[in-house]
Amino acid sequence: MEFDFTTLIDRSGTGSTAAEIIPIRGAEVREGFDKIPMWVADMSFATVPAVQKALHRRIDHPCFGYFITPDAYYDAIIDWQRKRNGVEVKKEQINYQNGVLGGVVSALQAFTAPGESILVHAPTYVGFTGVLTNNGRNIVHSQLKQDEQGVWRMDYEDMEAKFRDQHIHFMVFCSPHNPCGRVWERWELEKAYELFKKYDVIVVSDEIWSDIILPGHTHIPTASISDDARSRTISLYALSKTFNLAGLVGSYSVIYNDYLRDRVMKQAGLCHYNDANVLSVEALIGAYCDEGERWVGELCETLNNNVELAYRFFTEQVKGVKLAKPEGTYMMYLDCEDWCREHGKTIDELQRLGVSVGVIWQDGRPFHRPYAIRLNLALPTARLQEALDRLDKYVFNA
Ligand SMILES: Cc1ncc(COP(=O)(O)O)c(C=O)c1O
Repeated sequence: MEFDFTTLIDRSGTGSTAAEIIPIRGAEVREGFDKIPMWVADMSFATVPAVQKALHRRIDHPCFGYFITPDAYYDAIIDWQRKRNGVEVKKEQINYQNGVLGGVVSALQAFTAPGESILVHAPTYVGFTGVLTNNGRNIVHSQLKQDEQGVWRMDYEDMEAKFRDQHIHFMVFCSPHNPCGRVWERWELEKAYELFKKYDVIVVSDEIWSDIILPGHTHIPTASISDDARSRTISLYALSKTFNLAGLVGSYSVIYNDYLRDRVMKQAGLCHYNDANVLSVEALIGAYCDEGERWVGELCETLNNNVELAYRFFTEQVKGVKLAKPEGTYMMYLDCEDWCREHGKTIDELQRLGVSVGVIWQDGRPFHRPYAIRLNLALPTARLQEALDRLDKYVFNA
C-alpha cells in the first residue's frame, strides 16, 4: 500500500470526540482495557498527506484576511465530480455549505414551513432527526425493508401513500444510506424519482458518503438519473467522511436548477454564518487530486477488509445478531434483539458490557431501531480484530 492505514494514532490532547467521549450513559471502561473508538463517524486514520501539505503551504503565509474563493476550489470539485461520479458540473452550480446539515437546513427553510411534513427513510441518520425537529418540521418515516437476501430496500407503496395522504413535497434522501450502508442501484433511484415527480417533491440528496463505496458497488448521483431529477434535487457533498476532515468543516452543494439554487443560497445567506474558512478551502484543493483519489482507493480496500472481517464475525461467531453487509460507508448496523432476549439482557446492558471492555460503540436506537447498535469500522484492521476478540470473549460468547 502507498498509504498508511495500519498505524494506531494517539489522538489524546486533540479534543477528539471519538477518542474522548463515551457515548453510552452509565458506561465505563474496566481497568486493564484501553478504549477502541468505534462510534461517531470519523476515522482512526490520518488524512491523506496532500491535505496536510496544502494546509502547511497556506499557513506559511502570515495573512489570513478576507479572501475570494479561488477558481482552483471550483476546478477541484468539477474534476472530482467528473472523475468519481461521471457528472459535468459548472462553477455556478457549486456553493459552499457550512456543513451538510447546514445545507439541509437552508433547503428546508427555503421550501417548507414549520409544521410541514417531511419524508425520511427509517432507519434515519440521527442528524436528520435533529435538524428536522429543531426546525419544527413534522418527521414522517418510511420504513426501509430487508428483502429475502437481507438487503435494505425502499418501500415504494408506503412512500407513495405518505406523499399522497399527508401532502408531502419535500424529502431528505441519504445516498449511500447511513446507517444501513446501502448504495442505491439505478432502478431503485428511478423508481423513487417516479414518485418524486408524481407528487412534486423537492429532494435533498445527502451524498456525504458517496466516496466510500465498497467493491462491487457504484455510487450514482441522484440528480444524474434524469432531467427531471436534475431539476428537483439539491445534492450535498463534503470532504469530512472521505478524508476524515469533519473538524475543518467544509461542505458544498451542487444544484443544477437555478430557481432551487437561488432560493437555497438566499436562505443560506440570511444567517451570515455560511462563509468558507480559508483552511477548509485549501484542504479541499489539496484533497481532490490524483493522490487523494489513490488514497480513497486504498481506504475503501481497507474498509472492505474490515467489513468482511466484522461480517464474518457476527454471522459465524455470534448467535442472535442480525445485520446486512454494508455496500458503502464504514458503518455496520446491528440488530441485537434476539441476542438480548436469549441472554435476558436489555440493550442498555449489552451496550455497557461492550464499553466495559473498551469497545466504544454507539447506541443505534436514535437511528430508529429498538435493539440496534451502530459500529464504526474505520480503524486499523488489527485494532478491529482486537475489538472483535473482546466482544467474542467478554460480551457475546462470555
Ligand atoms: C448522512 C450524513 N449526513 C451529514 C452528516 C454530518 O455532516 P456535517 O458534519 O457536514 O454537517 C453525517 C455525519 O455523520 C452523515 O452521516
